[in-house]
Amino acid sequence: MIRSAIIGLGDISFIHLDGILTDPENQLAAACDLDEGLRSRVPEGTPFYTDYRQMVQEIKPDVVHVCLPHYLHYPVTKELVEMGVDVFCEKPVALNVAQAEAFAALEAAHPERKICICLQNRMNETTEALKAIVDSGEYGAVVGVRGIVPWHRAKEYYSLKPWRGTWEYAGGGSMINQSLHTLDLMYYLGGPVRRIHALVGQLNDYGVEVEGDVVARMEYASGAKGLFFATNNNYTNESVQLRVAMEKGVFHIEDNTLWRLYPDGRREVLAEAPRLEGIKFYYGASHSRLIQRFRKAVETGSDDYIHVRDAVMVIRLMETIFRSAKEDTLLDVL
Ligand SMILES: NC(=O)c1ccc[n+]([C@@H]2O[C@H](COP(=O)([O-])OP(=O)(O)OC[C@H]3O[C@@H](n4cnc5c(N)ncnc54)[C@H](O)[C@@H]3O)[C@@H](O)[C@H]2O)c1
Repeated sequence: MIRSAIIGLGDISFIHLDGILTDPENQLAAACDLDEGLRSRVPEGTPFYTDYRQMVQEIKPDVVHVCLPHYLHYPVTKELVEMGVDVFCEKPVALNVAQAEAFAALEAAHPERKICICLQNRMNETTEALKAIVDSGEYGAVVGVRGIVPWHRAKEYYSLKPWRGTWEYAGGGSMINQSLHTLDLMYYLGGPVRRIHALVGQLNDYGVEVEGDVVARMEYASGAKGLFFATNNNYTNESVQLRVAMEKGVFHIEDNTLWRLYPDGRREVLAEAPRLEGIKFYYGASHSRLIQRFRKAVETGSDDYIHVRDAVMVIRLMETIFRSAKEDTLLDVL
């Protein structure tokens, strides 16, 4: 049994609270938000704080979930680690490569502490099945990867939480906030990316600073080719599509299902992942799996979770995409 606390009771907190409260081996010990009005989001009687330092000093939890705006992930986790607790931190690991490297250095300097970064889509059953297929070598090398994120964000998404539309507090838009998981899986499944040529823009008229639309052509170190397309300006939210073409087989994930695609048009279902209930069905439903895996790692001392160092490469890809688009040229990955 571990005792967990949470900082940040905004939109994503419901999924973290569910992951803690449905695990009989995990106890919600306290919650914190600057906004007192959010106290009602945690079960009655849960100690509530507006100051996370005071919460950690008084409650002494084993794990703290960091569900804060992006610019706070690294500095708050640093403080928590130095206060002696393990941390389950939402994605992204950092705003940019420099901060991601500082975060990885913090992890390396504290081998006694565990920090898990919430790239939960690596743990979808469909992703795990496809990763096993790729790693088995049975179908030869990866030759192509395509990731599509056709999502929609209304104007209120930014106006209700203004940090989301800013470079300073969010570090970007549709990439760092929405499609980061898919970009991460393109690297996780396809292998190291060597060069990228990208277009980045904003097709909405909300007046936000950050990007809403990205197209990137990728050259993998293996010689494989990749295409990444992500938008927040679709008319609605539709399932992420992820395709991995190998020398002897083409595999496709969509709507929580992994298929093998055959040249004659047949599709064979290889794996299915549970669908998240409600309007956020398109997120991927593996938060609880990762929260439980981390709980077990904290209890047993295992290394089996997503480390800070595992979450740095997607920030390199993102920053290379921004730079490539700015310079309008093919660039080596940072
Ligand atoms: N893994 C996923 O699939 C996924 C999905 C959605 C969001 N997220 C991530 O979750 C994080 C939070 O996003 P959100 O949409 O819930 O944001 P949000 O703005 O809805 O919530 C953030 C909360 O943090 C609180 N807060 C800010 N500063 C604080 C401080 N110093 N002390 C205590 N509380 C403070 C705010 O009052 C707010 O309630 C982001 O990193 C986002 O990228 C991840």
